[in-house]
Amino acid sequence: MKIIVATHNAHKLSEMAAILPRGIELVADDPGAEETSDTFEGNALIKARAAAALHPGEWVMADDSGLEVDALGGAPGVRSARYAGEPVSTARNNAKLLSALEGVKNRTARFRCCIAIVSPDGMEHIAEGRCEGSIAAEPSGAEGFGYDPLFVPDGCDKTFAELGPEEKNAISHRGRALAEARRFFE
Ligand code: IMP
Repeated sequence: MKIIVATHNAHKLSEMAAILPRGIELVADDPGAEETSDTFEGNALIKARAAAALHPGEWVMADDSGLEVDALGGAPGVRSARYAGEPVSTARNNAKLLSALEGVKNRTARFRCCIAIVSPDGMEHIAEGRCEGSIAAEPSGAEGFGYDPLFVPDGCDKTFAELGPEEKNAISHRGRALAEARRFFE
């Protein structure tokens, strides 16, 4: 079975490949659709529908994810990738987040991931996962991507960037959304 995945993010693709059932071939094709929704679910559907239009009769999957920080009213949220503006820069995003939280005691946050699946006959399904945690005072670790060096999942004393991919996948928002997607495909 083949699934077209509407992403250009190699980290996301390898996290998906590690969790979905063996025998599923993931083919990346990002149609570059503009993410105009203010919800993760809406943006995942925009991307999945755009890829489905290019690949009629195929299974298509797209995810939208991001970080919600409670003290910032849920920001960066759907703007996580471009929090510090264009061109997209992980270093500037993380620096902006740390400065927005300077002196702030409540550092609770969560990663959220919505996966939209479009079946060959056009049926749509959404899988969602969350991971609760908090924002560290300074970055640690070199694994993963994005805000990983700043995010400490609840019940853990390391950031996502200090965990190996298996440890991260077991508890991450994307791991949980993919586990739900896996149950859907099975
Ligand atoms: P998306 O590609 O539109 O889903 O943008 C998601 C953005 O949220 C990414 O560019 C990262 O900044 C952030 N993000 C989502 N998932 C993760 C994760 O697992 N680790 C770190 N950052 C993430």
